[in-house]
Amino acid sequence: MPSFIGWVPTSTDDVEGFFELAPVSTSDVVYDLGSGDGRLLFAAIEKGAGKAIGIDLDAGLVKAANEAAKQKGIQDRISFLEGDVLESDLKKATLVFCYLYPTASEALKPKIEAELKPGTRVVMESFYFHGWKENKTIQRGGKSFFLYIMPPQQDDIF
Ligand SMILES: C[S@@+](CC[C@H](N)C(=O)[O-])C[C@H]1O[C@@H](n2cnc3c(N)ncnc32)[C@H](O)[C@@H]1O
Repeated sequence: MPSFIGWVPTSTDDVEGFFELAPVSTSDVVYDLGSGDGRLLFAAIEKGAGKAIGIDLDAGLVKAANEAAKQKGIQDRISFLEGDVLESDLKKATLVFCYLYPTASEALKPKIEAELKPGTRVVMESFYFHGWKENKTIQRGGKSFFLYIMPPQQDDIF
C-alpha cells in the first residue's frame, strides 16, 4: 500500500482552482484521491455536487472527515473511506480531484483509463499526467491546475 505523499492540505484559496476548471452540478459524483480532511469534497457539496467520496490511507483523517460530515448533516451525500487509491473502485466518478506526487499519477494512469467513463473530468493540482495532453490549465496562487477529460488525449511529444 504505497503512500504517495503525506497530508499537505490545499489552501482555502487554492480549493477554488479545482472548481474554476470543473464546476459541479447535482448529477456529479466527485472523488478526491487522497482526501485529507475532506476540504475539497465539502466544498464540492456546498457548491451543489450530488455525491462525494473521499479515499485516504490515514485512518485518523478519514474518521475526522466522516465526523465533520455528520456535524454538517450531509453524511448521506458524502463519505470518506480508508484505503489505497490504487485499490479503490472509481467507476462511479463523474469528477475526480487529485493532489498527489507524480509517482501517483503514473501508477494511477492505467486504472483511470480503465475505470473512468467517457466525459469524466480529472483535475490535478500541481502535478500533471506525463504523456497526456491536458484539456485546460490554469495558474492560481503560484500553482498550476490541470484538467483532463476522459478518454485522455495522448501528447504527441512523448
Ligand atoms: C497532498 S494531501 C491532499 C489532501 C486533500 N486532497 C487536499 O487537497 O487538501 C494527500 C493525501 O493523500 C493521502 N495519500 C497518500 N497516498 C495515498 C494512497 N496511496 N491512497 C490513499 N491516500 C493516499 C495522504 O494521506 C494525504 O492525506
